[in-house]
Amino acid sequence: MTECNKIILLTATTLFPLASLCHGACVEVDSDTEAVANQGFKLGCISCKMRGEVPATAAVNWYFKASDDDEFSHLYSYEDLIGDVIDPRFYERLDWNGSKQTKDLQDGSIYILNVTYNDTGTYQCRFNRVLMYPNYEFQTNASKTIIINVVPRLTRGMASIFSEVMMYVSIIGLQFWLVVEMVYCYRKIAAAGEEALRESAAEYLAIASESKDNCAGVQVAE
Ligand SMILES: *[C@@H]1O[C@H](CO)[C@@H](O)[C@H](O)[C@H]1NC(C)=O
Ligand SMILES: *[C@@H]1O[C@H](CO)[C@@H](O)[C@H](O)[C@H]1NC(C)=O
Ligand SMILES: *[C@@H]1O[C@H](CO)[C@@H](O)[C@H](O)[C@H]1NC(C)=O
Ligand SMILES: *[C@@H]1O[C@H](CO)[C@@H](O)[C@H](O)[C@H]1NC(C)=O
Repeated sequence: MTECNKIILLTATTLFPLASLCHGACVEVDSDTEAVANQGFKLGCISCKMRGEVPATAAVNWYFKASDDDEFSHLYSYEDLIGDVIDPRFYERLDWNGSKQTKDLQDGSIYILNVTYNDTGTYQCRFNRVLMYPNYEFQTNASKTIIINVVPRLTRGMASIFSEVMMYVSIIGLQFWLVVEMVYCYRKIAAAGEEALRESAAEYLAIASESKDNCAGVQVAE
């Protein structure tokens, strides 16, 4: 395999997962959990259909439990392409952000238009899905729970900051090490070159003196 083929193969294998994403493969991404006050926020909820080839219909219901509530209350429902805000605390503030123009929902996300501190709490989205096989129907349910924290502005987790710093440290460290190694190797090669020159000169001298010695020996023996 030539070097060029290897590179093409590598590119193909690294790009392949992206390509399959582009073709609508369903991936269950977790929702963000930190909402910023007075801004919009997407409550993500994705439930992939296990049997992609089987036609299905799904309804999505959202439930909300504020931080000082004891029980979940019905927040929002989406069925047959119609969304309905049920909780008066969220009137005029919720929009559907999930799968569009289909009853076969896999993305049940909703969007809060203007987040207030009172939106802090636990959200639950429930999928009720009916898989339609040729001779029968099969119901599956899925639910996800998301705990939302409302903050004045976006804070980054310590772990995220730490890993970014470590990334730069390791990149700079590796580059520095590479430069040091290159200088070291260059010097070593240069020194080896001089050494070789010196050695061959010394060898030449040694041969010369040896032959002189031999001559002396011969002279002594005489
Ligand atoms: C969002 O709500 C806050 C307080 O409830 C209000 O002051 C602000 O104007 C609202 N922003 C938008 C874009 O509706
Ligand atoms: C979600 O809904 C909001 C409000 O309607 C809209 O601004 C935003 O573009 C939507 N996002 C997606 C991914 O549909
Ligand atoms: C938040 O909740 C408190 C108490 O329930 C209420 O007095 C206040 O008006 C609410 N604020 C918003 C922005 O809805
Ligand atoms: C799914 O949920 C619906 C309504 O919440 C319920 O009637 C049904 O029994 C559930 N089905 C399964 C298989 O859990």
